[in-house]
Amino acid sequence: MKSLQIALTKGRLEKSAVALLEKAGVNCDMLHEKSRKLIFASETEPYSFILAKAPDVTTYVKHGVADIGIVGKDVLMEQDKEHYEMLDLKIGQCQFCLASTPSYDPSDYRRKIIATKYPTVATKYFRERGEDVEIIKIEGSVEMAPILGLADAIIDIVETGSTLRENGLVIFDTMYAISARLIVNKASLKRNKAQIFELIDRLENTLEVDA
Ligand code: PRP
Repeated sequence: MKSLQIALTKGRLEKSAVALLEKAGVNCDMLHEKSRKLIFASETEPYSFILAKAPDVTTYVKHGVADIGIVGKDVLMEQDKEHYEMLDLKIGQCQFCLASTPSYDPSDYRRKIIATKYPTVATKYFRERGEDVEIIKIEGSVEMAPILGLADAIIDIVETGSTLRENGLVIFDTMYAISARLIVNKASLKRNKAQIFELIDRLENTLEVDA
C-alpha cells in the first residue's frame, strides 16, 4: 500500500490537527518530538507527514507532492481552487473581521486604505459593498497598520480577540466564519480513493462523536 503524504499547517493549527488525527486513531507520536524536523514517516501506518506554512500546504497538494492537506479556510479563500475540499475539520475556528481604532468611520466617503494579509478576500468584501478601496498587503502583525497610520482599517482573522484588544482595536464587521479544512489532490483521490476515504470516514466519525 502506498503511503499517503499528509501536509499539516505549522504553528497554531498543528497542535489541534495532530490531536484530531490521534482521536481518529492515527498514530502521530513522531510529530510530538520537539525538533526542527519537517518530514516524518510513520513506521506503523501508511502515512507520512510534512509540516509547511499554510499557503505552502496548498502548493504541495496542488503539485501532488502531498496527497492530503490540512489548512485554514482563510488560506483557501485567498488562493485558486486546484484541489478538492473534502471536510470541515471544525478546528482552528475564527472569523474574518474588519477592525480598526475606535475613531474609524466605515461610512466615511473617502477612498479608504485597507491593510491585510488577505488581499483577495478584502477586495471581494469591499467590491460586494460597491466600495473602491486601496489594499496594502502585509505579511503579519497587521494590527499595527491602523495604529501607525499605514491604513484606515484592517481585514484579518480574529480567534480569541486578544491581539485586537491588546492593541486597542475594535471590530467593525464580522465577515466570514473560518475553520480548518481537509483538502485532497485531484489525481491522488482517483488513484487512492479507498485509502483516502477510509481516513476521511475516521475523521468524520470522530467529529460526529464530538458534535
Ligand atoms: C493571527 C491573526 C491575528 C491573530 C488573531 O496572526 O493575523 O494577528 O492571529 O488571534 P487572536 O484573536 O487569538 O488574538 P498569527 O498569530 O497567525 O500571526 P501573524 O500576525 O504573524 O500572521
